[in-house]
Amino acid sequence: NAASKGTYEFYMLKEIDEQPGVMRHMSQHYLDENGEPKVDQKIIDAVSQADRLYIFAAGTSYHAGLVGKSIFEHYTGIPTEVGYASEAGYHFPMMSKHPFFIFLTQSGETADSRVVLKEANKRGIPSLTMTNVEGSTLSREANYTMLLGAGPEIAVASTKAYTAQVALQAVLAKALGEKLGVKEAKDWDLQHDLAIAAEGIQQIVDGKEKLEKLAKKYLVPSRNAFYIGRGIDHAVALEGALKLKEVSYIQTEGFAAAELKHGTISLIEKGTPVIALINDPVTADLTRGNIQEVVSRGASIITIVGKKFANDEDTIVLPDINYYMSALLTVVPTQLLAYYASKNKGLDVDKPRNLAKSVTVE
Ligand code: G6P
Repeated sequence: NAASKGTYEFYMLKEIDEQPGVMRHMSQHYLDENGEPKVDQKIIDAVSQADRLYIFAAGTSYHAGLVGKSIFEHYTGIPTEVGYASEAGYHFPMMSKHPFFIFLTQSGETADSRVVLKEANKRGIPSLTMTNVEGSTLSREANYTMLLGAGPEIAVASTKAYTAQVALQAVLAKALGEKLGVKEAKDWDLQHDLAIAAEGIQQIVDGKEKLEKLAKKYLVPSRNAFYIGRGIDHAVALEGALKLKEVSYIQTEGFAAAELKHGTISLIEKGTPVIALINDPVTADLTRGNIQEVVSRGASIITIVGKKFANDEDTIVLPDINYYMSALLTVVPTQLLAYYASKNKGLDVDKPRNLAKSVTVE
C-alpha cells in the first residue's frame, strides 16, 4: 500500500523517489490529452476576478508559494504576494480591491494557516486550498479545493508535497492565464514541462550515490552550511536550507546569492560548505561572481546547475527545463543531500527532534 515503507529504510527517501510519479499523476489528472488544464470552471472564474493573489502557508509549503509567485506573475500577469500564515493572521496585509487567497498546506491542518482563512471568511475574501489531504480542515473551510494527489507523505520533512505544490500552482497559472488571454500562458506547453520534470527527477534520483558522497564529504563533518541562488533559485535555496537543517541539525542558511556579501559572508571560513544553485538565465553569470567571492574566503563549493549554464567544474548538472519550472528539478538534489547528511549522521531521518508533521497549535 501507498503508506508502507517497502524496502526503504526511511520514508523520506521513498517519497523523494516517488516524485517522478507525482509529476506524471499531475499531468494525467490535471491536463487533458491536448495538454489543456482541467480545472473546475468555478475556480477559474473566481480566481480570474482577482486583481491580486495572496498565498499563505508555513514551512516548506511557504517556500513552494515563493516559487508560485514567480509562476503566477509570469503566466497570469496578476501581482502575487506570499506571506507566512503565522504573521498574516495577526498583522493582516493591506488588501487590494479584489483579493483572492490561496492556501498551500500539505496536511490541510496547520493552525497558523487556519487563522488567516477564518479572517478571510469573515471578510468575505474568496479562497482556495491546495492540499494533499481530502476533507482536511483548510479544505473544508475554504471556498475551493485542489488536491495535490501526491499520495500519503509520512516523513516529517516534506518533499513530494513541495514538488506537487509547485506543479499544481503551474496548472492553475496556465488555466488562469489562458482565461485572461495572456500570451505566455497560451504558448506554454506545460504537459511537456511536466514530462521533462518527471524524467529529470528520475535522472537525479538515479544518480543519488554521488549526492551521498558529497553529503558525507562536505556536510556531515560541518556545523553549518549555506545555500545561495537568485530568482527562483533563491526560493529553492531557502527550501534546501530548511530541509538540510531540519533533518541533519546542521545550521544552514538560504541566501539570495548577492546578499551574502552584505554581512553574512563574514561567517564563511575555510571549508564552510556553500551550495550554489544556478538556473536563472538573467543572473547566472552574476551568481558565478558570488561563488568566486565565497571561494576566495575558503568555502567548499558545491554547484547545482542547469545544463545550459553548466561548465566542466560544476558538481551536479541538471537536465534543461523551463526556468519557471526549474524548482521541480533543483530541489531534488537538495532533498537528497539533506537525506544523506541525516542518515550518515545516524539520525532518525523521518522523525527529527522537536518537529511534528503537522502543527495544530499557533
Ligand atoms: C510543519 C511540518 C513542515 C511543514 C509545515 C507546514 O511544521 O514539520 O514540514 O512544511 O508544518 O505544513 P502544511 O501541512 O501546512 O504544509
